[in-house]
Amino acid sequence: MLDLMEAPGSALEPATAFVAPESANLWTGIELALDNGHGVVFVTDAQGQLLGQVTLDAMRAAIRKGAHLGDNRLADLVQVASHNVVSPVLGADGRVVGIRRRPEAAGLPVAEPDLSHAELRGLLDAFLSTWISSAGDHLRSFEQRFAARSGMAHGVATSNGTVSLHLAMAALGIGPGDEVIVPDLTFAACANTVMHLGARPVLVDIDPDTWCLSVDAMAKVLTPRTRAIMVVHLFGRPAPMTEISAFARAHGLFVIEDCAEAHGARYDGRPIGSFSDIASYSFFANKIITTGEGGICLTNNPDLAVRLRMLRDHGMRPERKYWFEEAGFNYRMTNLQAAIGCAQLDRMDGFLAQREAVDARYAAAFAGIPGLRRMPPMSDRCEPVVWFSSVLVPRGKRQPLIETARQRGIDLRPFVNSLSLMPAYRHYARNCPVSAEVSATGLHLPTTPKVDDRLAGVIADVFRDVLAADAAGSGA
Ligand SMILES: Cc1ncc(COP(=O)(O)O)c(C=O)c1O
Repeated sequence: MLDLMEAPGSALEPATAFVAPESANLWTGIELALDNGHGVVFVTDAQGQLLGQVTLDAMRAAIRKGAHLGDNRLADLVQVASHNVVSPVLGADGRVVGIRRRPEAAGLPVAEPDLSHAELRGLLDAFLSTWISSAGDHLRSFEQRFAARSGMAHGVATSNGTVSLHLAMAALGIGPGDEVIVPDLTFAACANTVMHLGARPVLVDIDPDTWCLSVDAMAKVLTPRTRAIMVVHLFGRPAPMTEISAFARAHGLFVIEDCAEAHGARYDGRPIGSFSDIASYSFFANKIITTGEGGICLTNNPDLAVRLRMLRDHGMRPERKYWFEEAGFNYRMTNLQAAIGCAQLDRMDGFLAQREAVDARYAAAFAGIPGLRRMPPMSDRCEPVVWFSSVLVPRGKRQPLIETARQRGIDLRPFVNSLSLMPAYRHYARNCPVSAEVSATGLHLPTTPKVDDRLAGVIADVFRDVLAADAAGSGA
C-alpha cells in the first residue's frame, strides 16, 4: 500500500467523502469539498487511480476566470496531491483505498464556520429568487423556526448580534438616566449598546462558579434608576435564569438575555432565551450556528414583537408605508443570510454534538497537565453547550503558550478582557476580581470537527511542554 504522505499511526478511513471521478463537474467538486469539511477533492480516473487533487481555492479561481459549474470538469483543474491535513492512501495498483489524517495541526484556527452543500443550495435559491434584501421565504422561515426552537413566539432577525442588543433595549424604552446591569466579563457590545442609548452600564462581577451574573451580586448595585438586567450566558454557560427572573420581577426590571455564545443551552429544563422580555442572539461566523453576520431578537410579547419590527425597519408602521412613528434603525437581516441560517439550523444538533465530542477529547488529552484547569463544573440545573473548549492557565504562562502554539500552527485565543480594566469603560469601572482573574488566565482552544484524538494530543503537548517545564523548573 502506497501512502503519499507518511502519517504514522493515523487510522485508515474511508475515502468516499473525498473522491470524485475525473468526469465530475465543478459543482459536484464544490459540494464534495464543502461537505467533507477539508476543502479538497481527490480526483480518480476510470480505473479508480489517483490523478491528483482539486482544492476549493482552485475551484474558486477557476470560477473567477469564467469556468462553468456544469460543463467544466474537475480533471481540468487537477494538481499534485500534497500539503493537506488529509492525504489519500493508495493501493499497490494506484487506486485510492482510503484517507489518513496527518498529526500536524498546521493552520488550525480556533474556530471556522461549517458550511455544507445545504447552505450553498439555500443561498443559491435565495439569490435566484431575487429576494436578496430583507424580505423572502428564507427570512420568514428562519425567524419562525429559530424562535420555535428557543421556545419563543416571535423572532425578529437583525444584521448582527450587536444591533439586536441595541434594538432590544430601544424597544424596551431604555434611554438616558437609566441603568442597565451588565456582567463585567463579556464581549464589549453588551456595554457599548447600553452607552449608545445614553444609559449607564453598571458593571457587576461574575460568579466564580457560573461565570455569569448572580442575584447576590446584582442586589448590591440596585438603585432607583436600575431599569434592566442584561444577562450574558458566557461561553455556553447558562446563568441561573429562574432566580434572575424572580429577582427582576420583584424589582420591576426588564431582562434581556444575551445568548450569543450559548445557542441551545438550557436552565431548569428550559431553553435559555425563554426567560426574558427579549433574548438576543448573534450568528457571527464563530458562533454555534452562523449566517455570516446576523442576529435575532426573540420575545413572547406580541406588542414588543411589533415594536421590534417597527424599530428595525426605520420606525415605519408596517401597515402604513413611509409613515414613521419614531426615528428607528435599519437593522434588518437579508434573505441571503437567512438562507444560510435555515441550513445551519437543520444541522445545529450535529454541531452541538461535534463540539461536545471535541471537548471530551480535550478533557482526556489534557488530564494531569500541571497548572491547567478546566472551566468550573456547573450544577445539575444547567445544561451548558460547548461554544469553545476553554482552559485556565497560570497568568505568566498564557503568552508563552499562545506563542508556542502559534509556532506549531495552532491558534489559541485569550478570553475577552474585563470591561472595567479597559479605557472605553473607565467611567463605569468597578472592582471585579473574579472577572479580572478569569479574563487574565483563560484560553479558548481550537474547537472545530478537525480536532480528533490525535490533534487534541498534539495541542495538549503544547501545554505539557510549556507548563510541565515550568513545574519542573520551580520544583513543583
Ligand atoms: C456575548 C456577545 N454579545 C454580543 C456579541 C455581538 O455579536 P455580533 O458580533 O454579531 O455583533 C457577541 C459576539 O460577537 C458576543 O459574544
